[in-house]
Order: sequence, then structure tokens, then C-alpha cells
Amino acid sequence: MDSSFLSVLVLHGPNLNLLGQREPGIYGASTLEDINRDLDSLATELGIAVDALQSNHEGLLVDAIQGASQKHQGILINAAAYTHTSVALRDAIAAVNIPTVEVHLSNIYKRETFRHHSYIAPVVVGQISGFGPDSYSLGLRALVNYLKSQH
Ligand code: DQA
Repeated sequence: MDSSFLSVLVLHGPNLNLLGQREPGIYGASTLEDINRDLDSLATELGIAVDALQSNHEGLLVDAIQGASQKHQGILINAAAYTHTSVALRDAIAAVNIPTVEVHLSNIYKRETFRHHSYIAPVVVGQISGFGPDSYSLGLRALVNYLKSQH
């Protein structure tokens, strides 16, 4: 596929709007705006488009995933706490069949056991966890390489 036609939907789940002030020892000092700005720059470098959305509401994230096939070829998602609870997000990703990469700022496997299980991991292309904001940029690069290799 001509990469100029690639558009990726970036989804941020609950409480990620508080990045920068939220448990900085775990999540770091970067704000969500910083992360989105860096993703915009990376998108320009890669010659693709990105649209970012943050929501604290599970159903809104489900709606965004369902609507993504109209406009986007890939999804980059940090489902945050819904990673560990949401069958609905998992089913939405499986339903739309849009290649999706899961990212986490923290290494979820180094933390409480309830964070070790991801409902969405079995329906995504791959997962990147533990690199802070770099998880997003690594995830976007990997997703774009994957999408290009499919066409
Ligand atoms: C997170 C990890 C989740 O366990 C947590 O609920 C979050 C953020 C991360 O990016 O490290 O809110 O997804």
C-alpha cells in the first residue's frame, strides 16, 4: 500500500489524560499532549496520518474502534485499565479486523498480578510494554511496517 494513504487511529484509555501528574514514578513526566505531539512528528517522518483520541469511557472506545474501518488502516491502543477488564474492547478489535498494536508505558508484567493479563493481547498483532513514551513510537513504527508488509 502507498504509505501516503495510511492512517492510524491512536486510542488512549482511562486516566491517561492525567499523564504528567499521575503517579510520575510509574508513568513518567510526559503529558498526553507531549506523547501526541511526538506521534504527530513521527507520523510526518513516516509519511502517514494519525488521529488521537483519549476517553475514560469504555463504550466510547468501543464506538471509536467500530468506526475506525471507515478511515483508518491500523489502530495503536493503550487501553490502560480496560486492558485488564474489557471483553467489550477485545471483541470490538476482533470484530473490525483492523491490525492493532497494544502499548503500555509501564512494564505490566513487572507490576501487580492483576495487570499481567491483557484481554486484548490475543487479538492484536503485538504488544510493547515498559518503554515509557517510547512504547508509543516503537508501536507506531512496528504497526506501519506491518501494514506496509501486508500490501
Ligand atoms: C498502562 C498500564 C495499566 O495497567 C494501567 O491501568 C494504566 C496504564 C500503562 O500504560 O502502563 O492506566 O496501560
